[in-house]
Amino acid sequence: MLRRLHKDQPASFEFTPANLEWARGQITKYPAGRQASAVIPLLWRAQEQHGWLTRPAIEYVADMLGMAYIRVLEVATFYFMFQLQPVGSVAHIQICGTTSCMICGAEELIAVCKELIAPAAHAVSADGKFSWEEVECMGACANAPMAQIGKDYYEDLTPAKLRDLIARFSRGEVPVPGPQNGRYAAEPLSGLTSLKDFESGRQQYNASAQRAVDIGDTVKRIDGTEVPILMPWLGKAAAVKPVAQTTPAPAAAGISATVAEALTTGTPEVKVDAPAGVAVAAPAQTVASGNEAEAVKPAGLSAARNGTPDTLQVIEGIGPKLEALCHELGFFHFDQIASWGPAEIAWMDANLKGFKGRVTRDKWVAQARIIIEHGLEEFQRRAKTNDY
Ligand code: FES
Repeated sequence: MLRRLHKDQPASFEFTPANLEWARGQITKYPAGRQASAVIPLLWRAQEQHGWLTRPAIEYVADMLGMAYIRVLEVATFYFMFQLQPVGSVAHIQICGTTSCMICGAEELIAVCKELIAPAAHAVSADGKFSWEEVECMGACANAPMAQIGKDYYEDLTPAKLRDLIARFSRGEVPVPGPQNGRYAAEPLSGLTSLKDFESGRQQYNASAQRAVDIGDTVKRIDGTEVPILMPWLGKAAAVKPVAQTTPAPAAAGISATVAEALTTGTPEVKVDAPAGVAVAAPAQTVASGNEAEAVKPAGLSAARNGTPDTLQVIEGIGPKLEALCHELGFFHFDQIASWGPAEIAWMDANLKGFKGRVTRDKWVAQARIIIEHGLEEFQRRAKTNDY
């Protein structure tokens, strides 16, 4: 395939402020005079922000690194991971067509892409939402056939599963990545046959999928605000996101930056239960969904009953970050979540910044009700088949 700049180019490119901060941080990883070493991560970030690599983006990165435009163009055209033409606004689907995937059905997956997206690779679908291409082995051969969609791998696919994924992405959903046939990771379909002693410590999903769920990974463009910008090599903690002028600073409000971030840019004033022993008023916050009038913040507690919170991470979709956020919002117990009605769910869906819509998407309330009504053992039995 001839890899060259696309004939239609936007007028300009620049990083968002957060992405710019991130990029500048990356450059500091390299010794003086070796800043060009940051070319690939910066190009990748530019692609994550815009969707594909434009000429202005290539030149912008070159300027940042003090490189000749042609040198950066060489890198961008050499690596196939860089998209040099527009891609679907929702997702670019990369189907592995190498041996393992091919003999397990990759050609049928490509046929689905041709039917549902566009007859030719790298063409954008009529609705502008999707594009696709066939790629070489992506190292998930044990879970063949597979596809990379956005940043995540969707494995153990069938044509029907891929059709379903495309339909769900098209509706705005973000299906949980990883194996799509109930398999946990890359173990035999019948389960582990050895090293069973090391099966403890499982989370809801395998580490990769769990990480994607925990950080609220999506296929959307990256503006840099999705996860904290960490630069430990500079001795810097995560950058604290600026708070809107009308909102008291987290410290002044007596709440953590996590909660403040979850309650940004808002309109209606809502009382937030303070951490134990702290009397505070919450900053103004926004109900960002379309259900503003219906959203009601659930009643929270100032601390866990008897000082012992339930392990909320048992609920599918709640990882360490969401559990911490729940605690800071005053939710420590399954029965609290089980008691939420549509109005409370709407509030939570709208206010879990970085995790918006997760309460509905992952059926927190239904899961919590099973735990309350039938116990953890029954819940875990049902969780294996997502029966809730
Ligand atoms: S052959 Fe498809 S991931 Fe390796």
